[in-house]
Amino acid sequence: MSIALVIPDRDVSRLVAELNQRLPDVVIEQWPDIAQPEQVEFAVVWKQPAGSLADFRKLKAIQSYGAGVDSVLTDTALPDVALSRIVDPGLADDMVRYLKTMVSVYQLRLDRFIHDQPLQQWRPKRPRPLESIAVLGMGALGQTAANHFIKAGFQVSGWSRSAKQLTGVRCYAGVGQFEDAVKSADVVICLLPLTKETDSFLNEQRFNCFKPGAVFINVARGAIVDDRALLAALDMGQLQAACLDVFRQEPLPAGHPFWHHPQITVTPHISAVTNIQTAAAQIVENYQRCQQGQPLLHQVDMQRGY
Ligand code: NAP
Ligand code: GLV
Repeated sequence: MSIALVIPDRDVSRLVAELNQRLPDVVIEQWPDIAQPEQVEFAVVWKQPAGSLADFRKLKAIQSYGAGVDSVLTDTALPDVALSRIVDPGLADDMVRYLKTMVSVYQLRLDRFIHDQPLQQWRPKRPRPLESIAVLGMGALGQTAANHFIKAGFQVSGWSRSAKQLTGVRCYAGVGQFEDAVKSADVVICLLPLTKETDSFLNEQRFNCFKPGAVFINVARGAIVDDRALLAALDMGQLQAACLDVFRQEPLPAGHPFWHHPQITVTPHISAVTNIQTAAAQIVENYQRCQQGQPLLHQVDMQRGY
């Protein structure tokens, strides 16, 4: 019986140390150097290469090392076992810290002043009146963000697949209510999972539903956005600025127009990074549940894809 970590291109030594400490009797193997694939019962994965789990004949469960599972589900040879993902209040707090910081950046027009500094341009202007926020995706992260902005005095609307009730938040559900959710928001925050339904969902038609001059923040997945439509919306003034933490291709390729666009702020997918200790605790809990034949915490609905 062992746990395999299939997390390429990342230093997982601290995660291994945490797991060894919490599960001293369990062998922790690291892909691609899996000595005994037939012993692997539990796999922890992040952007695993397609087919890399296929040799784990006794695999019982897969744990995503992140909140999102889109990269896990692209593997066409994924074994047919339960899949779980990270849900961590600390991760949600980190996401809120990023979002409230970026909203302040846009309120104070710091995006413009940072742009002006190398040009030695002195262009004082009063803060932008950003008072209403729409949150697309009202799950673990979206609800925490919506609650924060309500408490901070913003008008908040939320949009999800199924109807929700959240004190103080105007909640909308389904494609038919998308326009109502976004049409009066000064800031639109994307916290949707990437699925078949949300792939390229934010296209020209959807950006045209936004309030003219809105600020757009994408902290979900890059492929939810049609890049060309986003650039066109910025160039036409339908959006006044965009803050992008996630991209269709990561790292964002050299020469991509987002890098130099004066109305775009780029951050390298850092808005909420998996915390090793809390992730290790959840991995251990799910490994033990798996051994005892109990349902995993935070299991993914494979049909919905999130
Ligand atoms: P979650 O709990 O699964 O919530 C997803 C929300 O999106 C739910 O409210 C869901 O609606 C809604 N949704 C899904 N499909 C929809 C559709 N077709 N139309 C309308 N609403 C839809 O996910 P989470 O934990 O909040 O995380 C959201 C995403 O954030 C993750 O999938 C990941 O991609 C991203 N993320 C990014 C970072 C980063 O560092 N940038 C960090 C962590 C996570 P229902 O409530 O009706 O099901
Ligand atoms: C990060 O993007 C995550 O899904 O946890």
